[in-house]
Amino acid sequence: MRIEGKEYRTIWFENNIVKIIDQTKLPHQFIIKDLKTVKDAINAIKIMEVRGAPLIGATAAYGLVLAIIENNDRSFLKKSAENLVSSRPTAINLKWAVDRMINELSDVNSDKIFDIALNEAKKICEEDIKFCENIGLNGLKIIEKIYNKKKDTVNILTHCNAGWLATINWGTATSPIYHAHKKGIPVHVWADETRPRNQGANLTSFELNEEGVKNTIIADNTGGILMQRGEVDLCIVGTDRTLANGDVCNKIGTYLKALAAHDNNVPFYVALPSSTIDWNIKNYKDIPIEERNSEELSHIEGLDDEGKIKKVQIYPTKSKAMNLAFDVTPAKYVTGLITEKGVCEASNDALQKMFK
Ligand code: MRU
Repeated sequence: MRIEGKEYRTIWFENNIVKIIDQTKLPHQFIIKDLKTVKDAINAIKIMEVRGAPLIGATAAYGLVLAIIENNDRSFLKKSAENLVSSRPTAINLKWAVDRMINELSDVNSDKIFDIALNEAKKICEEDIKFCENIGLNGLKIIEKIYNKKKDTVNILTHCNAGWLATINWGTATSPIYHAHKKGIPVHVWADETRPRNQGANLTSFELNEEGVKNTIIADNTGGILMQRGEVDLCIVGTDRTLANGDVCNKIGTYLKALAAHDNNVPFYVALPSSTIDWNIKNYKDIPIEERNSEELSHIEGLDDEGKIKKVQIYPTKSKAMNLAFDVTPAKYVTGLITEKGVCEASNDALQKMFK
């Protein structure tokens, strides 16, 4: 996808260095950052210079390539893998990517390990791009159907950023939107601001602007009234972990949006590549929910009058704040899952049939 008219991916490998777009600086600064060590990769995931389930998986895969460059020793690789998996707990793609890499490297001689690791990390990225493109083509049919009936702009609400910045290219929730836009279907996106880190405002609205897709940022609490007024035709969100029974773990606030959609008969779709399915956890209560530093709530960053980035405190100094990063939407509130293989019901049977 494009930034200032130039095509980018969110991550790439060049001269033994991993290149990322530093997402903590967007939308006000566009900075390409170098990750030179596995520690850099772990830190980038932790402080969310890279974020979004598929992208942190890809970063972890490249992180292992960096580990091999640093120290071609099995015990260092093992420790690096553990540290990468624990850098953020909720998105299953992280473990999925690390397990896939370790599996691929298990019987490899040390003289070949770098080439094979790099090849596998690249494969993970290429596969994600293909999957996201297919998610777009499958989701496009849903948007097209609404447009053919409505014959007017299709209003889509999304939460957080499940855009191309959260993947390698295309995005998950945004891919059907980009495909519809490219096909000439008029679309308009309601981008939930997504407190506290504002991924909807800082990233989703930013990337949609760059692609020329009409969008409006709304406060997280606005979706309900827009749905009551008939101003949302459908919701599409991403996910960090979808259980085999169809329960969807995603950015905090997704659940409340699904409840409002259910109450107003607005279709609520979740877009995901199969790397986001957790086939093991049976009960949503067992999903590890990340709790981040409360400073992400109590402080906010933006441009001051001189155009300089400034961080200010917005909460009373003595107040306590709690910052849970994800919630779970039960499958019964999900109209359908848009995957690389097609659209299916959020249920065990449908997912088994599609993927097993
Ligand atoms: O905390 P973040 O910004 O990593 O959370 C991202 C999300 O919640 C996305 O919806 C999810 O990872 C899917 S990305 C295609």
